[in-house]
Amino acid sequence: PPPDPCTLVIFGATGDLTHRLLMPALYNLALWNLLPDPISIIAVSRTETSSEDYVAELTRTVKGYLTQKGGEAGGGTFDEAVWQRVASRITYIDGDLTDGATFAEVKTRLAQVSGDPEGGSVLFYLAIAASLFGPTVEQLGKAGLVGEAEGRWRRVVIEKPFGHDLASAQALDRQILTVLDERQVFRIDHFLGKETVQNIMTFRFGNGLFEPLWRRDHIDHVQITVSETVGVEGRGQFYEATGALRDMVPNHLFQLFTLVAMEPPISFDAEAVRDRKQDVLLATRSAKPEEAVRGQYRAGTVLGEAVKDYTGEPDVAADSRTETYIALKLSIDNWRWAGVPFYLRTGKSMTGRDTEIAIRFKQAPLSLFRGTDVEQTAPNWLVLQLQPDEGISLHFGVKVPGPQVRLGAADMSFRYKDFFRIEPSTGYETLIYDAMIGDPTLFQRADTIEEGWRIVQPILDHHAKTHDAPLPYRAGSAGPKEADDLLARDGHAWRPLEKV
Ligand code: BG6
Repeated sequence: PPPDPCTLVIFGATGDLTHRLLMPALYNLALWNLLPDPISIIAVSRTETSSEDYVAELTRTVKGYLTQKGGEAGGGTFDEAVWQRVASRITYIDGDLTDGATFAEVKTRLAQVSGDPEGGSVLFYLAIAASLFGPTVEQLGKAGLVGEAEGRWRRVVIEKPFGHDLASAQALDRQILTVLDERQVFRIDHFLGKETVQNIMTFRFGNGLFEPLWRRDHIDHVQITVSETVGVEGRGQFYEATGALRDMVPNHLFQLFTLVAMEPPISFDAEAVRDRKQDVLLATRSAKPEEAVRGQYRAGTVLGEAVKDYTGEPDVAADSRTETYIALKLSIDNWRWAGVPFYLRTGKSMTGRDTEIAIRFKQAPLSLFRGTDVEQTAPNWLVLQLQPDEGISLHFGVKVPGPQVRLGAADMSFRYKDFFRIEPSTGYETLIYDAMIGDPTLFQRADTIEEGWRIVQPILDHHAKTHDAPLPYRAGSAGPKEADDLLARDGHAWRPLEKV
């Protein structure tokens, strides 16, 4: 059912996130009849423009994203009437977020659009630079915009990156929690909005088949890969200061990591799920710099397109030491996972777009095949593919037909699109909807974010101290060779990346 009536206030309304993801998500929610009725949207940004001009420009870009061929946001069609249900409810305010007057204006506008002198229920969405998260929440508090009452809630969605290391995340939490109650804070990680990411739990706990094997007795190691073909896409300024580790690991990759490694929660209740995910992080040893590989791409070809050096990108320093690739090894000290390495890797301008969790089961004892032509049994892999094509596959060995005993590799593959109609979505639909109905299950708690930073902090510290140059890798490859060595040391190898 649609959420109760509320107003969505978007700070950062002219930014890329709002245009490319939030507004297309609101369109999809309108299409599925999952927007509050009525919904009001107050768009706030520094650009001086009128509501009419803002909406006209927005309509142009949103239509572009929704009709993009092969795009994730839309199915290639654009229904003007559906969009009008969103567009006709938008009003624009230009103002600086460091200026109290902007928030006074928001307050006045809230009373107008909601028909409630107190402004009704409000979801504030901070689609702004991370440096403004704290100050904006402070301004919301000063302007008296976060007080709740019976039938009137106030919530704040905060984007990533949440801090740039452990100390800054803790400081940001302190600042935010002096104004808001933890209940009111919705820290977003859009990977959690992805259908296939949520499905990891369903797959594990909705089937009796796999869970008994899901432990150190049977699992040799786990590989988590988020490989992207895109480069920095004009986000040089942001990326230079961030790098692959901060941009992807303590947030997106750790979502996959915790969902794969968590114990079964006692229910799907928000705290039950988030507690179990937190347990994984608490039991994970801090990463070792010598078990991490930082890379930076050099010129090459990605999917047939020429790509220049990372250092040749706009807003990137010619001698930049920012990593565009990171691989690391993690160990969990608990009964389920002791001794099972988890290898994580993510990179830009790689050979293919591939997000997957690959679980390698222990090798069968070889004795039965002694004296035959079989030197090694085929490895057993269970692969949860999340992007670009969602699916699950199981790899195993079979006898090659013929008089000799020879083992070949085979697989059973399931692809979502063969069984279900998949609605195009940005991942933000679920999250916006959940924030409106007040369900925090798919949002990050303060303690989880801080624990994530704690784990990667030694790598950040090591780099800050040594200022080591990232290892070069060719754009269009699978990352630096040293990342192969990281696994080879343990007698393992990365699964090859798909070229898509
Ligand atoms: C964002 C990162 O959070 O996630 C980007 O800042 C990255 O660098 C993106 O490309 C990946 O998300 P998706 O949904 O495109 O896989």
